[in-house]
Amino acid sequence: MGLTIIGCGYVGQALARRLQPQRPQLGLTLTTTRQERQGALRPLADEVMVCDATDPEQLLKSLQNSRTAVFCLGPKGNQQVDEEGYRHTFVDSFHCLRLLLPQLPQLRQILYTSSCSVYGDANGDWVDETTPASPGPGHGSVLLESEQLLGAINDRTVCILRLGALHGPGRDLDERLKGLAGQARQGEGNTFTNWVHVDDAAGALEAAVDGHWSGVVNVVNDQPIRVRDLVEQSLAHQGLATVQWMGGLEPQSDGRRIRNQRLKQLGYRLLHPNVDQSGVFSANQVP
Ligand SMILES: NC(=O)c1ccc[n+]([C@@H]2O[C@H](COP(=O)([O-])OP(=O)(O)OC[C@H]3O[C@@H](n4cnc5c(N)ncnc54)[C@H](OP(=O)(O)O)[C@@H]3O)[C@@H](O)[C@H]2O)c1
Repeated sequence: MGLTIIGCGYVGQALARRLQPQRPQLGLTLTTTRQERQGALRPLADEVMVCDATDPEQLLKSLQNSRTAVFCLGPKGNQQVDEEGYRHTFVDSFHCLRLLLPQLPQLRQILYTSSCSVYGDANGDWVDETTPASPGPGHGSVLLESEQLLGAINDRTVCILRLGALHGPGRDLDERLKGLAGQARQGEGNTFTNWVHVDDAAGALEAAVDGHWSGVVNVVNDQPIRVRDLVEQSLAHQGLATVQWMGGLEPQSDGRRIRNQRLKQLGYRLLHPNVDQSGVFSANQVP
């Protein structure tokens, strides 16, 4: 029985591209909230539906023939979406899903792409799925609340994949960082960042579907990298002038380094173990 991807942006489409050519029998349904996107999504699926996941009628229709639902939602609008935007997108959608579950007995598996931002700060320490999430106020706390809504569903298999920051085609790191060339920046750039290539986000989702993963799984690459190292190595590789770190933003946190041990124990092999686009990144190996 079918699989529905609710929310086909960057990750949802990457998953659809993996699934559709290999599995003609799958019965893949994709959703968009925008009529005008249906045409673009149609080649990737058996069916495309207009669905706002906060609308019970539309969500029910999108899921009623599926055994698996993959929620790859993201708030709409510009990059700086506020907490309310996150709440509407995730919390309202999952309340809606929970209300519908009695009408969806065939839906056995629910997956959701959450974010490592639920971990909050750990002063540069390593965190894993057993580390209590502590995002502080803001969108991270809304994402945690969203996870809890799904985690409380106990009669279906629920898997929450906490993604690192995404990179890949269309979100290329060199492209995003080249504008910093030659700049003077405040701070030291010490904060760790945790990345995952979009192909690995989609690959882990596919493995989670096939392997019936449950619970929380971090989906990040092997090498958390400090902002300073990320920027400098990318600029060097592009032959661009380095950034000058001016200090003066103390106290600054080192952030946190996310472990991907569970991902590996579940058998997933990363296609992109680091953000390397040049063959030169080697820092910050997992101990
Ligand atoms: N981007 C990152 O770096 C990152 C990092 C960590 C975690 N994640 C997680 O991964 C998720 C997906 O990321 P992404 O980059 O693929 O996001 P994206 O490109 O913004 O795509 C999100 C999709 O959600 C759909 N959507 C928004 N509101 C909806 C609603 N109410 N009902 C149904 N669909 C709705 C939109 O569909 P239409 O516009 O077609 O209607 C959009 O295509 C994020 O939200 C987050 O939880 C992302």
